[in-house]
Amino acid sequence: MKNLIIYYSRRGQNYVNGTIKSLEKGNAEFIAGFIKDAVDADIFEVDTVKPYSEDYTACTEEAKAELRAKARPELKKYLKDISEYENIFIAGPNWWGVYPMALYTQLEKLDFKNKTVHYVVTHEGSGLGGVPETIKDSCRGATVGSALEVRGGNAPSSRSQVENWAKNAVK
Ligand SMILES: Cc1cc2nc3c(=O)[nH]c(=O)nc-3n(C[C@H](O)[C@H](O)[C@H](O)COP(=O)(O)O)c2cc1C
Repeated sequence: MKNLIIYYSRRGQNYVNGTIKSLEKGNAEFIAGFIKDAVDADIFEVDTVKPYSEDYTACTEEAKAELRAKARPELKKYLKDISEYENIFIAGPNWWGVYPMALYTQLEKLDFKNKTVHYVVTHEGSGLGGVPETIKDSCRGATVGSALEVRGGNAPSSRSQVENWAKNAVK
């Protein structure tokens, strides 16, 4: 029984507990690492051909425009076949209420039949937002398992919480 993590996470300037900080490692990236340690999963990072602005405010504008346009930005590489996996973990930030459009670019290309999807959303107050709805729509055929929301600023120290959640998710 193999597990896979698909995540998107943005390094650089971000809004953390009310101030702008530059992150060397993204919050969802921390989470993906903790899941990997807990359930021994393969890992796939979603990354866009066109980078988002390093500047936080500029990035929020780019993300808003993509959301409005229902954009599906091009990725550097694509995962094509997930047939060998049973559990798929998805991790990414809440951007204007949903995952960054790039995650949907990838998810919509996959066949989730006979897979269970568990997902984590990092955020600065909006929690899971509208992500649960979009998981149903974009992970074609999936059984939806459990969801976890982690406040971005707490992500680096969320190891035990995330590990417990991930282990329970695959039980
Ligand atoms: C473009 C953009 C839009 C965001 N929109 C929201 C939002 O609507 N609600 C919220 O709680 N946090 C929002 N955030 C904050 C992120 O969800 C939060 O900082 C998260 O921990 C980032 O994870 P990452 O480091 O893995 O990218 C936004 C951040 C960015 C860069």
